[in-house]
Amino acid sequence: MRVLLVGGGGREHALALGLVADPSVDVLVAAPGNPGIAAVAEVREVNATDPAAVAALAVEVAADLVVIGPEAPLVAGVADAVRAKGVAAFGPSAEAARLEGSKTFAKDVMTAAGVPTARAYTCTDAESVGRALDELGAPYVVKNDGLAAGKGVVVTDDRAAAERHAAECGRVVIEEYLAGPEVSLFVVTDGEAAVPLLPAQDFKRAGDGDTGPNTGGMGAYAPLPWAPPGLVDEVMRDVVHPTLAELRRRGTPFAGLLYVGLAITAAGPRVIEFNARFGDPETQVVLALLETPLAGLLHAAATGTLAAHPPLRWRDGAAVTVVVAAEGYPAAPRTGDVITGADRAGVIQAGTRRGVDGTLRSAGGRVLCGTATGPDLAAAREAAYEVVRGIELAGSHHRSDIAAAAVDGRIDLPA
Ligand code: AMP
Ligand code: GLY
Repeated sequence: MRVLLVGGGGREHALALGLVADPSVDVLVAAPGNPGIAAVAEVREVNATDPAAVAALAVEVAADLVVIGPEAPLVAGVADAVRAKGVAAFGPSAEAARLEGSKTFAKDVMTAAGVPTARAYTCTDAESVGRALDELGAPYVVKNDGLAAGKGVVVTDDRAAAERHAAECGRVVIEEYLAGPEVSLFVVTDGEAAVPLLPAQDFKRAGDGDTGPNTGGMGAYAPLPWAPPGLVDEVMRDVVHPTLAELRRRGTPFAGLLYVGLAITAAGPRVIEFNARFGDPETQVVLALLETPLAGLLHAAATGTLAAHPPLRWRDGAAVTVVVAAEGYPAAPRTGDVITGADRAGVIQAGTRRGVDGTLRSAGGRVLCGTATGPDLAAAREAAYEVVRGIELAGSHHRSDIAAAAVDGRIDLPA
């Protein structure tokens, strides 16, 4: 089959590697694409958030399947425009993508579906913000009510900082703090049938020990040795199926990748957020372990035939990815620096570009990821850091504790 992959970052590089490894894929076109993607796909330039432009490209390249990576094109209606041309698209409609695009919409769906999540208030002025902060207490969780690429959330004990963030955002969701380790569960769905991938954990804070500002994600590992038995079944039953049913009931079924971000609290799993696409960098580890051909799976979801798809097969062992970020990330990443060592196995490129002199250059905040698998988590972690040690990028930083607590058995589930 001929596949068009939309979006040009680290998640898309991981998706591209998965797609070309599927023997049913004859041609992979990526639009846009970084140099890592260009090594395995034909790269075309396109404005990924222009639905008409992406749909026209899908027709031009005779795509049998369009896979949409990032949230912005989904929210802009790219999947709708592609489907309107009669081409199968992996990714939800603009309406269904509001599950990620609007925190208020997501809360509304969860309430209607009886999905366990944090209590929350949507606020638009200082007075209602003050009331919500009083009622819910510290730590304060203040979220921008729009797409914010993972950076619109402030979690703080500092009341003044919480009020400041709320004032900067305008419309915010203020919610109850959920205490417990976080899990990212990806679910492939055609709107009705739903298949969970392996649970993973992401590291959102910039610094070791979960210190520093929130980021798009600094590393990930899968599977989760500490996850309670039955976790995935419980989340499918209590979260995923009710949410999909509620969206069908509203006439806007969700087909694509439902990303469930959870906290495992003393009261059980609680939804922190939904995303409408594969997570980054969790995709890098989850796909490293998936043995089932990726394009066939996504095509089944895109064509409403997922119920007939064979059960997923997984490699034994574990995977770890460590993000190498640019100097100044997340506040003000410096770009344009030369990168060396990116050609080794396990390097997944995110914010990179080819300079006029042909050298590889940094072009974003999260620049590359070192990804590796191993027979167990400790071995995968060691191998991922070995990949990172081979990468040179002036001023870059990475966390040194990705997957460390899980390897050491230091992740406690709240009693
Ligand atoms: P979000 O953009 O909703 O994924 O939030 C980013 C990060 O903020 C999450 O991964 C959590 O680490 C943290 N966070 C968000 N909501 C909550 C909450 N209700 N309780 C505790 N931490 C939260
Ligand atoms: N890893 C977090 C995200 O993709 O939103």
